[in-house]
Amino acid sequence: SLSISPEVPIRYMNYHGMFVPDSYQLIADSIENFQIRDDDVWVCSFPKAGTTWTQEMVWNIGNNFDPNMAKTPLPIKFPFVEFTGTTTTGWISLNKADSIFPDHMSKSVEYAANLPSPRFLKTHLPFNLLPRQLRTREKKSKMIYVARNPKDVCISYYHHYKLLEGYCSTFENFSKLFLGDKVYYAPFWDHVISYWDNKENNDILFLTYEGMKKDLSSVIKQTAAFLNKSPMSPEQLCRLKEHLSFDSMKKNPAANYENAAESINASKIFGENFKAEGVFIRKGEYGQWKSFMSPELIERFDEWTKLKLENHRDLFDKMI
Ligand code: A3P
Repeated sequence: SLSISPEVPIRYMNYHGMFVPDSYQLIADSIENFQIRDDDVWVCSFPKAGTTWTQEMVWNIGNNFDPNMAKTPLPIKFPFVEFTGTTTTGWISLNKADSIFPDHMSKSVEYAANLPSPRFLKTHLPFNLLPRQLRTREKKSKMIYVARNPKDVCISYYHHYKLLEGYCSTFENFSKLFLGDKVYYAPFWDHVISYWDNKENNDILFLTYEGMKKDLSSVIKQTAAFLNKSPMSPEQLCRLKEHLSFDSMKKNPAANYENAAESINASKIFGENFKAEGVFIRKGEYGQWKSFMSPELIERFDEWTKLKLENHRDLFDKMI
């Protein structure tokens, strides 16, 4: 068990190759034995790959845009299954008064297990640590994975850590944690590869953040077909695209995690001097690394990627 910096009172471990808080052990068995249903829809990702955006898209496609339910916050209608495991002390001291996070956040697995069908579920677990029934395709459930260029993920993750994880060091130091597999759910490439290698056998729809940015209409249509939905009218498609635009999502209180830092009582966990910085729906671009990273760091990332994808030329071509 180790700590990433003196300010952060959370201890981490390597759980079967995945970097997570120690407390993951408390829920690992219930994740492994989690009961899957035929009509489950899962959104899986490495953090900061565009999970929230994909969830909002999938939920609306899956629910034919139900306008009443659309106002229900994502953490309630599309919960993060292993939430307890990743945030330990933080989320346990929830500040309920203005929280968008419901009580269930301290019992995320149980909450997900008891949701009525059809369930929409989010996870950041790598493929090999998914619930057994999901890995072995015991049910006809659907899985959608979203991947994003690691340089942009790293930048987004750095801002996330400053907002929600008590991180107060530099980007340079954060990038060392990222490349050294010392951030939640690392190692990054093993995560992406685990889904990439299993996508055919397990009927996983593999999306990319960049693909969604470049041609959201196509991704919406592809996802709707994957979920066996009948094709949308041009008006419906237009309305959904507008709903999923960066500006709309940023304003959408059901999806923008506004007040997330206050909700988790960040100063209580990380000390009075900690001030959460930034917002969750932050910039929404790809290729940010070109102006954000030094040439040396870009080179380090490129070498690391080349090495990790040595045997995955097809994935390299898709993502880099
Ligand atoms: P940035 O920090 O680069 O802006 P996740 O949901 O996996 O945590 O990913 C968060 C990232 O997705 C953030 O990236 C956020 O801004 C971006 N994002 C969220 N909604 C988006 C949208 N509608 N369009 C583009 N990017 C979006």
